[in-house]
Amino acid sequence: MTHRLVVTRMLPEPVAARAAADHDTRFLDFEAAFEPEIFLAALDGAAAALVTPADRIDAGLIARLPASVRVIGTFSVGTDHIDLEAARARGFAVVNTPDVLSFATAEIALTLMLMAARRAGEGERVVRARAWPGWKPNFMLGTTLEGKALGILGMGRIGRTLAGMARGLSMQVLYHNRNRLHPDQEQGALFHAGEDRFLAACDVLSIHLPGGVATRHWLNAERIARLKPGAIVVNTGRGTTIDDDALIAALKSGHIAAAGLDVFPAEPAVPAGYLDLENVVLLPHLGSATQETRTAMGMLALDGIDAVLAGREVSSRLV
Ligand code: DGY
Repeated sequence: MTHRLVVTRMLPEPVAARAAADHDTRFLDFEAAFEPEIFLAALDGAAAALVTPADRIDAGLIARLPASVRVIGTFSVGTDHIDLEAARARGFAVVNTPDVLSFATAEIALTLMLMAARRAGEGERVVRARAWPGWKPNFMLGTTLEGKALGILGMGRIGRTLAGMARGLSMQVLYHNRNRLHPDQEQGALFHAGEDRFLAACDVLSIHLPGGVATRHWLNAERIARLKPGAIVVNTGRGTTIDDDALIAALKSGHIAAAGLDVFPAEPAVPAGYLDLENVVLLPHLGSATQETRTAMGMLALDGIDAVLAGREVSSRLV
């Protein structure tokens, strides 16, 4: 049966083709800011919406969604942009896109680790500025990752994938998580139950926490002080998990040697203090941005929407 589906952003071509073929789909193609009034008007009589992490579906908006809506699909694994409790209270299902982006996101965490450790962003800027003085024994020395301790904060699917990659670089991998994983899932990483010991042991800290109130500013000045002098910080989870003022101060003082950040608290804005620092690598939320992954995410989101509309159970359903 054909249902009305509203899609907020342009989709990868195969996903858009499927959405158009299987549903009466209205593509809003928002280019920049999400426009709630246009979204609400388009949803009149619609059964489903496909939104993205750039669209804030808060309690106020959910209260105004037409009763025809049965499911909200999000083109993401993260759901901090959707008020899940408000959706639950109104009886709307929410489906997301787990698993399919783990490898791509771990690749970006690895990219940031390498770029931060080896000063690759800084080096690229020097070359482009035509300011490279030529090979010199002491020119732009970074630090190797070989033998260094990678601490993974949040050992979900992405953290576990990164752990496997880091072993290939001969890093020692440790992790801190609510619970210890089954040894089969640990990828050889060492569980640190205690936060203090974990932080003190990291040469590189890679953050893989979800967004939301519970994790807001997890990496604050106090925890930064407990990291080793010269540690590297990487974040591919959500920008809200870092107190940016504290990290900027630590990058300036040199207590944190370098950082690699793919996510920011109010994207696409980037805290101004980072922009003038050489020792931070800044990416525009590229974690899942491969052709293959974005197509897989879109297909999975449509699978979830279709399953809910057909009354079938689906593992990507959160609410
Ligand atoms: C997600 O899926 O939550 C990612 O942040 C998108 O890249």
